[in-house]
Amino acid sequence: MRPQPDFLHEFVPGNSKRTLLLLHGTGGNERDLIPLGRELDPDGSLLSPRGKILENGMPRFFRRLAEGVFDLEDLKARTNELADFVAAAVRHYNLAADHVVGVGYSNGANVAASMLLLRPGIMHAAILFRAMVPLIPENLPDLSSARVWIGAGSQDPIIPTLETQRLVELLRAAGTDVTIRFFDAGHGLTKSEIETAGQWLRELKQAAPRR
Ligand code: MLT
Repeated sequence: MRPQPDFLHEFVPGNSKRTLLLLHGTGGNERDLIPLGRELDPDGSLLSPRGKILENGMPRFFRRLAEGVFDLEDLKARTNELADFVAAAVRHYNLAADHVVGVGYSNGANVAASMLLLRPGIMHAAILFRAMVPLIPENLPDLSSARVWIGAGSQDPIIPTLETQRLVELLRAAGTDVTIRFFDAGHGLTKSEIETAGQWLRELKQAAPRR
């Protein structure tokens, strides 16, 4: 039996309690971020769905009207659908529901941020590479037990750093412990950024849960 509602996905079992939920960028697929996930965490399980929206044949996690302009109704529906998939996958693969860390790149980072804001119980932490504000929720959730690391490219032509700053402010207003790091990079990830994110994840492992 596959988790319902169904997403095409890869699942790689690990030997620790943690699961990394890997969310690819526009035009990516469920296999793209597996090597990144393993680099970030050699022990965790990896759950990597493929976005269901096709934009000119390129998979995404939600519809957009133009670059950086999102179809908010679709975004809300797709966020809930993805959150339901993660909850079903946690049951199906017998994973620890309180040890799910989102790892999103670009469009995947935006849907991860949306999931934090709309379905706060799904992930307890997240690494967001090249993220912006996906939506402003009607009611700000209590994210005081969540930890988020954000990596921004200071020359990113797609996600202006100001947009990433707005996301930091929104998450902090909800009580999230946010770390933001700027890298001398464009939209693509750099080796040093991945190493920095991995270091944060290792420290997260050792830290006691926030109350
Ligand atoms: C989005 O659509 O989520 C952002 O513009 C990033 C991207 O190009 O995918």
